[in-house]
Amino acid sequence: MKNQIISLFVLALCLSIGTVEAQSKAIDGTLLAPTPPMGWMTWNYFADNINEKDIREMADAMVSSGMLKAGYNHVFIDDGWQGGRDNKNNIIADPVKFPSGIKALADYVHSKGLKLGIYSDAAPLTCAGYTASLNFEEQDAKTFASWDVDYLKYDYCGAPDDMEVAKSRYKKMADALRKSGRDISFGICEWGDRKPWLWAGQVGGQLWRTTADVRDKWKSLTPVKKQSELHGTGAGILDIVDYSQDHASYAGPGHWNDMDMLVVGLYGKKGPSGDLGGVGCTDTEYQSQMSIWSILNSPLAATNDVRKMNAETKRILLNEEVIAINQDALGKQAVCKIKNDLWSVFVRPLANGDFAIAILNRSEATQNSKINFAELGLNGNFEIRDLWEHKVIAKGKKWNGKVKSHETKMFRLKKI
Ligand code: GLA
Repeated sequence: MKNQIISLFVLALCLSIGTVEAQSKAIDGTLLAPTPPMGWMTWNYFADNINEKDIREMADAMVSSGMLKAGYNHVFIDDGWQGGRDNKNNIIADPVKFPSGIKALADYVHSKGLKLGIYSDAAPLTCAGYTASLNFEEQDAKTFASWDVDYLKYDYCGAPDDMEVAKSRYKKMADALRKSGRDISFGICEWGDRKPWLWAGQVGGQLWRTTADVRDKWKSLTPVKKQSELHGTGAGILDIVDYSQDHASYAGPGHWNDMDMLVVGLYGKKGPSGDLGGVGCTDTEYQSQMSIWSILNSPLAATNDVRKMNAETKRILLNEEVIAINQDALGKQAVCKIKNDLWSVFVRPLANGDFAIAILNRSEATQNSKINFAELGLNGNFEIRDLWEHKVIAKGKKWNGKVKSHETKMFRLKKI
């Protein structure tokens, strides 16, 4: 009897894993989002003041700055593009902001080698009050497909709190996208409030937000007891790390924990990420965001003005060795092996047998780190490559060194 129960449990587990993967199948049978999606998103820089001219300029800059070459291959249009519905109830773009229409914009970004993302919401209106898709799921999915859109971020403002309703509204849109005749990856954005890591893959999402919106700051000034309180206090980089790190087992190729946009290079620019205490971060803190988002397999959506990036922002966003960890084919999210007042230390295995580790100094002062790799479960001798210094720094079973306040060291360990 006991064995039968165990077999049934294993079967149920296999079926549920199978379901997640089946839900992420592209039309040709390959996987949608086999690695975390990357790109540039309009929201933090422009809010809803978007238009086709600025987006084309950003697309051009994605190419000329090296962002596309480094892997940032989407332009994600966020809220504010909508102009209501026509007399056949087809959703339309705002004719003043997008006089050439979204299809022309998609053609333009595709001609640059980029993909186009768009945005809607599982209610009548979006978070910023624009026309959304509830009860028009199939019609809107067909419209997005006819525009050659590649990705949909689907928000949850104006929708009921209940988890079952959320599941069914997201499933409805995921099914509509699958029926649309085009591969459109699906980003679920209900901010982690209904534990989407438990169900978002099964209902057809390729990624799901884990927390409230990121603000351009290190951490919430008021301590919170649960992640949903971050909606009120504002989620900083460290808060999102702390509230996303436990969901590693739910992520993998085709289904990712989305820690929200990168704020790298925003420097406290006013806008949505400047609200709720988003006064800006130091480059050291931005380097930490890039490191932890990469080791935890989060999608990487830059939101700074890529038309004018300073040298530090480029150094951080275009670090191809760090991006390679994020995009590693194994798709295994790092787990947090050490967490205390001073440190968060993350470890993940990589497809070629190497390991990546990230050592984050959470404290307000420089600290001396003494890490024996064995305490992270990594036995043997390793060659240690510093992915921010771009060189091999040592060989052995441990690493001792200084880590500045809020800095993250990121190493690739190769067994020797
Ligand atoms: C919500 C989302 C944000 C952004 C805005 C747009 O707050 O979480 O990422 O899309 O809506 O209104």
